Amino acid sequence: MGVEKFCSSTILVFCVVFLSVSCTEQLKTSHAHTLLRIKWLLNSPAVLRSWNTSTDFCNTEPSPSLTVVCYEDSITQLHIIGEKGTPSLPRNFSIDSFFTTLVRLPSLKVLSLVNLGLWGSLPSKISRLFVLEILNVSSNFLYGHIPQEVSVLRSLQTVILDNNLFTGRVPNWIGELSVLSVLSLRNNSFSGSLPNSLKNLETLRVLSLSMNQLSGEVPNLSSLTNLQVLDLEDNNFGPEFPNVANKLVTLVLKNNRFSSAIPEEVSSDYQLKWIDISFNKFVGPFPKSLLTLPSITYLNIAGNRFTGLLFENMSCNAELDYVDFSSNLLTGRLPTCLDTNIKNKVVRYAKNCLDTREQNQHPYFYCRNEALAVGIFPHNQKKPRRKANAILAISIVGGIIAGVMVVGLILLLVRRIKSKQMMKIPPTRLIKENVSNGYSSKLLSDARYISQTMRLGALGLPSYRSFSLEELEQATNNFDSSSFLGEGSHGQMYRGRLNDGSLVAVRCLKLKKRHSTQNFMHHIELISKLRHSHLVSALGHCFECYLDDSSVSRIFLVFEYVQNGTLRGHLSEAPIEQRLTWTQRIAAAIGIAKGIQFLHTGIVPGVFSNNLKITDILLDNNLLAKISSYNLPLLADNMGKVSTGFYSSGSKESKASARKIHEDKVDVFDFGIILLEMITGRPILSKDEVDYVKDQLQININVDDVGQTSNVDPAIRKMCSEESLKTVTGICLRALSKEPAERPSVEDILWNLQFAGQVHDEWRGDSQSQSSKGSPISPSHPSLQQASQ
Ligand SMILES: *[C@@H]1O[C@H](CO)[C@@H](O)[C@H](O)[C@H]1NC(C)=O
Ligand SMILES: *[C@@H]1O[C@H](CO)[C@@H](O)[C@H](O)[C@H]1NC(C)=O
Ligand SMILES: *[C@@H]1O[C@H](CO)[C@@H](O)[C@H](O)[C@H]1NC(C)=O
Ligand SMILES: *[C@@H]1O[C@H](CO)[C@@H](O)[C@H](O)[C@H]1NC(C)=O
Ligand SMILES: *[C@@H]1O[C@H](CO)[C@@H](O)[C@H](O)[C@H]1NC(C)=O
Ligand SMILES: *[C@@H]1O[C@H](CO)[C@@H](O)[C@H](O)[C@H]1NC(C)=O
Repeated sequence: MGVEKFCSSTILVFCVVFLSVSCTEQLKTSHAHTLLRIKWLLNSPAVLRSWNTSTDFCNTEPSPSLTVVCYEDSITQLHIIGEKGTPSLPRNFSIDSFFTTLVRLPSLKVLSLVNLGLWGSLPSKISRLFVLEILNVSSNFLYGHIPQEVSVLRSLQTVILDNNLFTGRVPNWIGELSVLSVLSLRNNSFSGSLPNSLKNLETLRVLSLSMNQLSGEVPNLSSLTNLQVLDLEDNNFGPEFPNVANKLVTLVLKNNRFSSAIPEEVSSDYQLKWIDISFNKFVGPFPKSLLTLPSITYLNIAGNRFTGLLFENMSCNAELDYVDFSSNLLTGRLPTCLDTNIKNKVVRYAKNCLDTREQNQHPYFYCRNEALAVGIFPHNQKKPRRKANAILAISIVGGIIAGVMVVGLILLLVRRIKSKQMMKIPPTRLIKENVSNGYSSKLLSDARYISQTMRLGALGLPSYRSFSLEELEQATNNFDSSSFLGEGSHGQMYRGRLNDGSLVAVRCLKLKKRHSTQNFMHHIELISKLRHSHLVSALGHCFECYLDDSSVSRIFLVFEYVQNGTLRGHLSEAPIEQRLTWTQRIAAAIGIAKGIQFLHTGIVPGVFSNNLKITDILLDNNLLAKISSYNLPLLADNMGKVSTGFYSSGSKESKASARKIHEDKVDVFDFGIILLEMITGRPILSKDEVDYVKDQLQININVDDVGQTSNVDPAIRKMCSEESLKTVTGICLRALSKEPAERPSVEDILWNLQFAGQVHDEWRGDSQSQSSKGSPISPSHPSLQQASQ
């Protein structure tokens, strides 16, 4: 039985081998036949002249115009590129027969049939090339619709139908080609609007639809996060500026019917290199930020109705070598960075109202009138020149009055509509406000800042500003739970990413009482000044207001986002070998002390009782310590009493008079607890624990070799100088004194910490030069030097 089975299976194997061998032989010859038939069907173009019956197709030298690629005796790529301007094939050509032949190469992954004079409509048989990935049939005479059968070619990555005579709509099923990365339909006669399904093509990199008769709004393409090229030139798209994700490199909207303003988001498309939005009806202020986009080299806004005042001192990206402003309504002076004397730079600006004699400018009035005609007030730059004749002046006045009336009417209408809406919608939404003007608090004018504030320019933070609610909603994904960082007594925290890519933390405060924005302005002003390298600094704020009385419903405070976790995360919560070294701990302690010093004395009135906790000390990527939760004046005043931590000691401080005298000592006590944790490397979670650990240390400090004692974090035991550790322990114990008066001042603490740092540095230098034992001490961290400056 066994033997029999063995025999039959051997025979079977033999048969299979034999069959497959003979099959490949057959396939080979049939492929050759197919290719020769293709040559004949194409009327033997010059490019295929070399093909004959003895050609070894799989082993011919590829050329730019003719390439055959085989893989295991199947043809996987076929490129036939005819001569430019090849006329259409004679009448006896049949596209159907051609494709019937072509699909006998079912392993084709790449197919280019360019400039061959193919004519007819693309047959549905093309779906039999079911592994096709790249299809380029540009520059032929193909017409009709794209057959729906193409939608089954799910491997298609690139579809190029340029320079043909295709008609009909861009099919909706195009969204089913889930790996499509290039779709190019240039120079055909496609019409109608674009299908919404385009937004499903998440892998799309290039979308080129220029020179067709497409129309309507461009669908929302913001989900196409890989899109780099969007070319819609010469169609009838509009009126809204297309919505695209911010990876775009090339944007061409030339010759369409766009008539909106340019949305602000465009200035965050940091990869944009090429912008051509010429010859549309774009209106509104010319976004000057386009000139400074970091990658921009080509900018063409010619033939629109952009308004705005240009300054000589405006800046532009150095790489920008082509700029065309012509035929807009720009006023002012040409920026010097666009000086045409610089070689290889092309700058065109004719037919504006710029203050120059060159390139054929209109008089200033022209731009003003035109701007009024489209309902925009250009920048109020100059008074009309007296030279102007009366008729012109009258017409301007007429224009202005008409414009004002139109705008007034529109405002009235908008108000009407809004007030109607308000009756339906519950009255809580935002109003926009502007911090930069309209408030002057006495408090502000006499606020004094000590020298630390002078150094703030070096913090590398953007200047403080007000944010719009939309911006914050976008940054936090509508305050999505995935952005939620935590909730404290002072409201919820969210993580967000701004348009420029920077990470922020957004604190949201819901207000219990109703106040106007004015009430908060002096707090906001103070908060905006609380900037220091050892504070998590505020970047800005946003008010959300009730619509009915414009009182503030919520305040959002935007802070810098500090990436590297909490101080505790680098001590007790980290594995021993990853904990901060003694040098790093001293640097962090000095940083915190400096932060406290700034809160107390860097601003008037000082910010005290900050309820400092080790979990609110964050470290940045350079292990620079930053205090993240301080007693914001806003919170203290408007949210009721500040809650004090469980370990903020002393019944005495709570008495008002004592507080006045020792107001800085609450923070000193809290700082003592943080130091305690830095020395012992164990989390301290209750007041009892503070007392207990403190007592232990107190005993140890009198021992000779305090560094050896079990209370010290094993990660630093023996790796720090004795004197240094004693100094820090000493200042820590004093900070934890029950009597506020006995606690050291912040300056005293700073001095001691800096001393400890120096002693430790010297000790390290000595111990390293003396011994070759190679202690695992990390090199002096830059943050120590920075902190002790
Ligand atoms: C088309 O007609 C030409 C002669 O006019 C002939 O040479 C060619 O072989 C024909 N092609 C096909 C595909 O029938
Ligand atoms: C086929 O073409 C090659 C050159 O491409 C030529 O050397 C050969 O003689 C041709 N064979 C026949 C049978 O025409
Ligand atoms: C299509 O093929 C032609 C000829 O090789 C080439 O010039 C063109 O760049 C191709 N199109 C795309 C978009 O790759
Ligand atoms: C557009 O395609 C036609 C053929 O359909 C061709 O003659 C013409 O040169 C193409 N135009 C451009 C600008 O490529
Ligand atoms: C476009 O779509 C995105 C989500 O894909 C959405 O957040 C955005 O609001 C949409 N824009 C418009 C103008 O509809
Ligand atoms: C540029 O110049 C204008 C006046 O010519 C002035 O108002 C503006 O502040 C200047 N901007 C900068 C950044 O110097």
